[in-house]
Amino acid sequence: MNNKVSLRPIEIEDLSMLHKWRNDADIFNHLGGGFIPTSKYEMSQWMANFSKRDLNNFRFIIEYDGQSVGFISLTNISYLHRNGVLGIYIGESKFKNKGIASSALKLLHEFSTKNLNLLKVKLNVNHNNVDALRLYEKNGYKKVGLLEKDKYINGEWLNVILMEHFLERNEE
Ligand SMILES: CC(C)(COP(=O)(O)OP(=O)(O)OC[C@H]1O[C@@H](n2cnc3c(N)ncnc32)[C@H](O)[C@@H]1OP(=O)(O)O)[C@@H](O)C(=O)NCCC(=O)NCCS
Repeated sequence: MNNKVSLRPIEIEDLSMLHKWRNDADIFNHLGGGFIPTSKYEMSQWMANFSKRDLNNFRFIIEYDGQSVGFISLTNISYLHRNGVLGIYIGESKFKNKGIASSALKLLHEFSTKNLNLLKVKLNVNHNNVDALRLYEKNGYKKVGLLEKDKYINGEWLNVILMEHFLERNEE
């Protein structure tokens, strides 16, 4: 694992940076909700939701060598079923293809087992998102289903692939 990579909580000072990333179509056209232009005020409202402790949704900034480069989340966590849903992006394009997302994913897996006692991480990925599919397969995720024409993003109907990764097989 790349030990220059770390995860930290989102701070109020991150608003401008997250607002910039949220308005980058190259990132958000790959995500489930697609690209929707978002004002700084809307972003601040979204961030205000994080002011209370919420053990069902964790969101972190990915840092590389002390610099903020991306975002990773585990949301909709169920402590009954012991799973959660992953989201990830590298916000600064010059930091793609350095293995940063893989390292961040490993850190999130470690946090999910050691701190949250979870068993499984799952996710949805658009079928044409080659970089993300490669990232997930490389890090142990298996394709387990497909939703046909599930998202209409940037003028195109996209199939969505469902993937899952068991964190601790030995507990079964
Ligand atoms: C998908 C995404 C998160 C991948 O980020 P990334 O940091 O480039 O991904 P990886 O960690 O897999 O690194 C990719 C490449 O870095 C290279 N690399 C360089 N140094 C490395 C190192 N020390 N360790 C590992 N890989 C390294 C590898 O060649 C790797 O390519 P490979 O898969 O051919 O082996 C990024 O492309 C992104 O933000 N996309 C837009 C948003 C998105 O699609 N999010 C997912 C939605 S489901």
